[in-house]
Amino acid sequence: MTTSDLNSGESVEPRGKRHADYFEDHRVLQVILGRVESTKDLNLLTPLLEELHRLLRGHFAREEASDGLYGIVEEAAPQHMVHLQELLDQHQAFLERVTRLVEGVQATLDGPIAGLFHDVQSLCNDLQKHEHAETALLTETLYTDLGESS
Ligand SMILES: [Fe+2]
Repeated sequence: MTTSDLNSGESVEPRGKRHADYFEDHRVLQVILGRVESTKDLNLLTPLLEELHRLLRGHFAREEASDGLYGIVEEAAPQHMVHLQELLDQHQAFLERVTRLVEGVQATLDGPIAGLFHDVQSLCNDLQKHEHAETALLTETLYTDLGESS
């Protein structure tokens, strides 16, 4: 049997290589998922989610290919095809969820968080003006008014 006999000539990769790629895909996904779920920094979350989306698109496409997970199960264990199809049908929904999260993070950064930082900046500016005015008043009192009364 040649490698092309394994998958209708659509791949020249031996089955072992396809399996290794599949498990490497999942290893990389585990790494990025760990980073996504542990970050508390919204500014870091956006690029992480965009990277997750990019990885998932490639991973899902490889799984759905006739020489990927779909082809492997169809060839070797067709009794699992119904379950596999249910899993593959979830791919598009996962991509859409990641896209919605990216949009939600950006909307939060542009809206509520931008508003909070604007309010913090405004508070700092107003406090600096307030303290400057008090310092000017004290300086005026010490060097002018007290000087004139003595
Ligand atoms: Fe997968």
